[in-house]
Amino acid sequence: MGRKFLSYNAIMNNNDSLTLYPTIFVIFGITGDLASRKLLPALLSLYSKRLLPIRFTVIGFSRRSFNKEEFRDLIRNKMNIRPGQFKEEDIKHFLDHMSYEQGYFDDSRAYERLSKRIQSIDHEWDQCSNKIFHLSVPPSFYAGILTNLSSSKLNHTCNDESGWTRILIEKPFGSDIKEAKALDNLLGKLFDEKQIFRIDHYLAKEALQNILAFRFSNSLFESVWNNRSISRVHIKLFEKIGIEGRGDLYESLGALKDMGQNHMLAMLALITMDRPKSFIAGNIRDERAKVLSTLSTISPRNLERFVSRGQYDGYLAEKGVASNSRVETYFRIEARLNNKNWKGVPFYLENGKAMRETKTEIDVYFKGSKNIEEQNILTFRIQPEECIKIRFFVKTPGFAWEREAKTLKFKYSDIPSFTSLPNDYERLIHDAFIGDQTLFASTDEIMASWKFVTPIIENWNRLPLKKYPKGAIEVE
Ligand code: BG6
Repeated sequence: MGRKFLSYNAIMNNNDSLTLYPTIFVIFGITGDLASRKLLPALLSLYSKRLLPIRFTVIGFSRRSFNKEEFRDLIRNKMNIRPGQFKEEDIKHFLDHMSYEQGYFDDSRAYERLSKRIQSIDHEWDQCSNKIFHLSVPPSFYAGILTNLSSSKLNHTCNDESGWTRILIEKPFGSDIKEAKALDNLLGKLFDEKQIFRIDHYLAKEALQNILAFRFSNSLFESVWNNRSISRVHIKLFEKIGIEGRGDLYESLGALKDMGQNHMLAMLALITMDRPKSFIAGNIRDERAKVLSTLSTISPRNLERFVSRGQYDGYLAEKGVASNSRVETYFRIEARLNNKNWKGVPFYLENGKAMRETKTEIDVYFKGSKNIEEQNILTFRIQPEECIKIRFFVKTPGFAWEREAKTLKFKYSDIPSFTSLPNDYERLIHDAFIGDQTLFASTDEIMASWKFVTPIIENWNRLPLKKYPKGAIEVE
């Protein structure tokens, strides 16, 4: 079925292309939350699995000023790793590969310094190395950084084409369809599409990738994967945490832009897309975009019928949040797809912060009984306790004619390599190194999702904002 279904071990054994070429990884916003929570632990993990190039260096770029030791200590202390998770020796050597460049994101002189630093590394290695620029900053800085990268010619690949240059850009990609188009135009002017890696880290979650393998390898399900057999789909992404001190950024987003336009619609696309011509990046990305483009727009008149939103008690007291904020931390949308396969099937997209438990799961209900309690359900549990399970019914053994529900289950934790499976960011960085864009969003996907989300956001204030207590199981 193509490279995407190679086992992780097979990928690990096939990593010459990854480890041989010297690479410089520049992280804009190295002192931020994302870098310490996700990016650096993922790089360290790849390093400890010997999946990074033998010659690599990470240059952190940020506003604050540090000397070498201070920077090293900061990274060591902030990095979100568990005691004992990595060997001390690996951590030490990994930190040896890191250095820091102080600069303001809008200061062209800082990019000249960065460029000189990169040239001197190339000179020292006697090779024009690969370069990755990761924008781990709030979206308002994207345009400035991209323009400065271009003015200092840092977007160029090596003259002799021996080394590539790639750009990794985080979601949210724009803040509505207009901004997303402007950002895409800017990126398109400065980089080729094959250089651009738009991150939606949910696409890289192991249990989400499995949706395609599961759907297209099991004729038992593929033949009933349509509106004739499926009655409804519920995609749930609940988090126990609140906004975790990210008030300033969150106030400009809200749940729908933070999680809906990207992660939730990415899950919807994987559940509903047609079988791609082949399992290569271009074909998979095209099918994801194609199905998203069939999402029916929700008109202002129908908003209240299909959409609801909420805010947890205590949100207004969070740091960086306006005391009268109407920003949502919860939403539920009943989405419809206007295509032959899925016409008539409701897709419930539900997301909330400060809920009772952290749980991401997709429930596919099969027709049969009108009572949903009596329907077969296929569940993809994305996290935690990743699994695929099926609810089916059997006769309760004994004299009586009674039925009861049972569960068939595949648990990821049962597989021997479970603890060494790559997490989402490891997978993304790995794929960016090898140039595989399958797990990155394409322009078409992003535009299709904004086309669906923008009209809802434009009319958000027509909807009541339901207050819910922290730890809610559901929002009524
Ligand atoms: C991010 C959102 O994209 O995803 C955060 O900005 C959210 O608000 C996070 O907490 C959740 O990701 P994960 O991988 O922890 O489920």
